[in-house]
Amino acid sequence: MNPNPANLQPTRFWIALDVPDQKVAEQWMARFPNHKDYKVGMELFYRTGPDVIKKWIGEDGLSIFLDLKLHDIPRTVAAAISQLDELGVSLTTIHLMGGRAMCEAAVQARTQLSIVGVSVLTSLGNDDLTMIGISSNVADQVTRLAAIGRDTGLDGIVLSGQELIVLSPLWPGARFVVPGIRKAPDPSNDQKRVITPEKAVNYGATDLVIGRTLLQAKDPQATYQELTKLLQGGKKS
Ligand code: C5P
Repeated sequence: MNPNPANLQPTRFWIALDVPDQKVAEQWMARFPNHKDYKVGMELFYRTGPDVIKKWIGEDGLSIFLDLKLHDIPRTVAAAISQLDELGVSLTTIHLMGGRAMCEAAVQARTQLSIVGVSVLTSLGNDDLTMIGISSNVADQVTRLAAIGRDTGLDGIVLSGQELIVLSPLWPGARFVVPGIRKAPDPSNDQKRVITPEKAVNYGATDLVIGRTLLQAKDPQATYQELTKLLQGGKKS
């Protein structure tokens, strides 16, 4: 069952450039010359700053998903979203735990930028939620946060593949961005809620975040080809 119409399109996959600087990032880009979709997180952005991001978009024709996971008072988040919008990035993240007013302010501040809400980090499990005082289990918490994202006009949600099957019917047309992707034998590292790329696609993911599965693969080229082939067709019936 997958009622998400967005997933009739090929699933997009973002290579997570979790690397320390521009030089290493561009070495990876050179290995995948046909790939245009890259996720830049805090590690790289705090080193490169906005000018390098502008160059990658303007001169190199890349789409950048700037994953800064904003979480602050509504005015501050809205102002940050305006800056990112002007930078020309395609997609960014805010924490749904920032609440309704913060999400609304973010949506009002953007013009072209897509914004997805981070639900419960894929590195957390039920025990971690208990420890920070949240009595719901992960699935219920993700469902509750998804309603905030949907009702405030966000474009979608970042969630683990494990909650996708429940969530995709509840928010038709949303972008379902799934990190924590592992090919079966890979180690999960610090991630607790992982899923294979095949399952994520079949459960309704519209966007996959591919990090260590590719960057730490024994043969990154072969892994890249495998992923491209798998994701070209979208959901398999
Ligand atoms: O290497 P790995 O595939 O675990 O990388 C996952 C990427 O997705 C990292 O860049 C991480 O910051 C990001 N991410 C995540 N969990 C979320 C949101 C983003 O792992 N909930």
